[in-house]
Amino acid sequence: MGAGIVHVFLAAGSAVTLAEADADRARVGAANVEASLRKAEERGKLAEPAASLLARLSVVDDLGALPTDTALVVEAVPEKIELKLAVFTAVAARCPDAVLASNTSSLSIAELAKGLPGARVIGMHFFNPVPVQALVELVVHDGLPDRVVATARRWAEALGKTVIEVRDSPGFATSRLGVAVGLEAIRMLEERVASAEDIDTGMRLGYGWPMGPLRLTDLVGLDVRLSIADHLATRLGPRFNAPQLLRDKVARGELGRKSGQGFFTW
Ligand code: CAA
Repeated sequence: MGAGIVHVFLAAGSAVTLAEADADRARVGAANVEASLRKAEERGKLAEPAASLLARLSVVDDLGALPTDTALVVEAVPEKIELKLAVFTAVAARCPDAVLASNTSSLSIAELAKGLPGARVIGMHFFNPVPVQALVELVVHDGLPDRVVATARRWAEALGKTVIEVRDSPGFATSRLGVAVGLEAIRMLEERVASAEDIDTGMRLGYGWPMGPLRLTDLVGLDVRLSIADHLATRLGPRFNAPQLLRDKVARGELGRKSGQGFFTW
């Protein structure tokens, strides 16, 4: 999702620094941003040539190389609280005035904010594919100044997104509902209620979903969905227990679109 988030900020006119964990990931990250922008350009979605947007992009492989006057940092690292905390701790020291936004799908924003100087951590939850989906879910915890919320809203709206504001609670509004449906679809597949194709077609044509819940799980990533489900199960109870089929597929490396195989072959 990081590449999509970089894409939309570049397209909205910002200068962006993409920070990755090492040089290999930095190369892949930069290539993903370029591919996303080229696709949007081919579809006539960019007001400026992709090449001029890319000229505003810097790529670094060290958080210590972020510009110190950075106004907004959006983290999109894997859904592990220790990792996100480590990133925010490093960034808070490097960029003293930045608003720190997390693209987490489910983790507590208050827990991510704990111990960091200044009340400036907010949830800024984007949706796949980021350039296409019109929503940003702002996740707000007690003690966050209205000024930070207003600033984050202004930025999200400058990207052309519609904002919903949600209280910090497990899975917020969108992941809680989206994961509930996704897990139930996987349980239905385990119980041989219908094929993956037919479960998805049911929700597409019967409910008007743009894609069915299983294909959507492939798009999001089975590993991502599993992490969210495990977290929600600890906070909201066994109704979010992950089906065995999901665990087995993740263990086999069938992660969805990004690995070429999930509930469908890509
Ligand atoms: N940049 C800009 N625009 C793009 C683009 C890109 N890279 N790729 C596609 N588009 C545009 C297309 O030009 C098209 O626009 P128009 O309708 O104006 O022509 C539009 O997006 C749709 O593209 P397509 O016709 O190629 O594709 P589609 O109609 O098959 O739709 C889809 C594809 C947008 C993915 C659609 O199936 C969809 O909305 N699926 C549901 C996605 C969803 O639910 N996402 C949320 C997942 S949950 C999540 O992400 C949060 C989390 O915490 C994990």
